[in-house]
Amino acid sequence: MGKVLIVDDDPQLRQSFEKLLTEEGHTVQTAANGESGLAMVRESPPDLVVMDVRLPGIDGLEAARAMRKVDPKLPIIIMTAYGTTETAIEATKEGAFDYVLKPFNIPDILALVKDALEAGRLMHSRVELDIVPDKPSTDAIIGRSKPMQEIYKAIGRVASTDATVLIRGDSGTGKELVARAIYQHSKRAQRPFLVINCVAIPETLLESELFGYERGAFTGAVSRRLGKIQQANGGTIFLDEIGDMPLSIQAKILRLLQEKSIERLGGREPIPVDVRIIAATNRDLEAAIAEGSFREDLYYRLKVVTLWLPPLRERSEDIDLLTEYFLKRLTSEVKMDNPGITPEAKTLLRGYTWPGNVRELANTLQKALIFSRGTPLAAEDLTQVMAEGSEIKSVDEESVTGALRQLFRQKLAKSHGEGLFDSMMDDTASILISEALNLTGGNRSRAAKLLGLSRPTLQAKIEKYQLKIETSVTS
Ligand SMILES: Nc1ncnc2c1ncn2[C@@H]1O[C@H](COP(=O)(O)OP(=O)(O)OP(=O)(O)O)[C@@H](O)[C@H]1O
Ligand SMILES: [Mg+2]
Repeated sequence: MGKVLIVDDDPQLRQSFEKLLTEEGHTVQTAANGESGLAMVRESPPDLVVMDVRLPGIDGLEAARAMRKVDPKLPIIIMTAYGTTETAIEATKEGAFDYVLKPFNIPDILALVKDALEAGRLMHSRVELDIVPDKPSTDAIIGRSKPMQEIYKAIGRVASTDATVLIRGDSGTGKELVARAIYQHSKRAQRPFLVINCVAIPETLLESELFGYERGAFTGAVSRRLGKIQQANGGTIFLDEIGDMPLSIQAKILRLLQEKSIERLGGREPIPVDVRIIAATNRDLEAAIAEGSFREDLYYRLKVVTLWLPPLRERSEDIDLLTEYFLKRLTSEVKMDNPGITPEAKTLLRGYTWPGNVRELANTLQKALIFSRGTPLAAEDLTQVMAEGSEIKSVDEESVTGALRQLFRQKLAKSHGEGLFDSMMDDTASILISEALNLTGGNRSRAAKLLGLSRPTLQAKIEKYQLKIETSVTS
């Protein structure tokens, strides 16, 4: 959810785009030309600008430049037609977030808007170090333990340099948070920070995502495209889960580190780039080298500055502070009163081994809050949640999508047009709602909140789908 400014001289496009984004829950402002768009950026800064390249008066490139003078980290998506892609590419080189070719399809543009808003948030919202913030909404690295103090010092030491940093530690120990803190304390803090998750993107896409391609590099490469590395020029790129990066791409990253240049797919000339690399992994890289899935030469390049984040059980003196922080933060997010926690419950949390580290602690508290009745969280409340496994079992979304496709295909093949669409939507909605009710112990107000529905709407759906509610808590 964010505040989006649309700048385009075509009233129809403005209108339909505004409608689309508003339906997605964004707040939308529109402007018909670059000058008034710029004035809006000055008066009431948006989280994202989506702007046409060809405008009456100053063009999109010039407007983007001026907007970035007001806020150098403002993400801007440039809309372009075939004839003007070069200008759009120019804008991206100068720091605009990305560009799209018109006409674009709706899922693509919505995904891009979401990514751009997230990138903007990561750049703008500061990660505070070593404090308990009075505003629970701020991101912060919490902890006063010896190992955490060492981490703060290390962040301070490496931030101001251009050194490549490797952040290691088990899942949920705070690697991403530390990467952002390094960026924000660096001299590149006013330049882009782009995150690439190496496991989330399939190998072929990862390569073009990072390095870009020339027109005609492969079927479907209708125009030149900059990669994330070039887009982050002058800034920082965060390669998350680098231990899972395919070998072919590892070779290219090594080259980037050695020669400070990249080659686009289908390109002949190396392109000089100036990016700082921060990488993170929870993998045992030494074992990966031994089994041949990670390049040793890249490992040596990366590990010069290594930050090890200790597992939470090795800094159990931080658990109280973290608990206090998460309770404040989680309750303020859903505008509920902070019930607090009993001393026995705190002792329990301090003594647990936390295989999922800080993330697991946060999840446990979140789940306990869902069941809470307004009285301080007690040891029993927590043991119940912890016994069930506080991590909600994660599913591979891609394989679920694959299975759904199969199911839909099967249904479509057999369909005689008897309301298939509505019946599939109803099935999905009824599963989603019954899970929300399970999770909240049948508390309709909380389930409605989780679902983003009003309580009457939820009630109507419960009746429509004839859902049975096992009430463990009165609602
Ligand atoms: N010291 C800390 N203080 C406050 N919040 C923290 C701290 N460490 C981690 N968190 C929070 O815990 C969650 C997990 O942290 P993060 O995503 O940085 O972990 P990670 O090491 O990148 O894990 P993974 O290897 O699974 O990606 C996040 O919500 C983060 O904000
Ligand atoms: Mg991570």
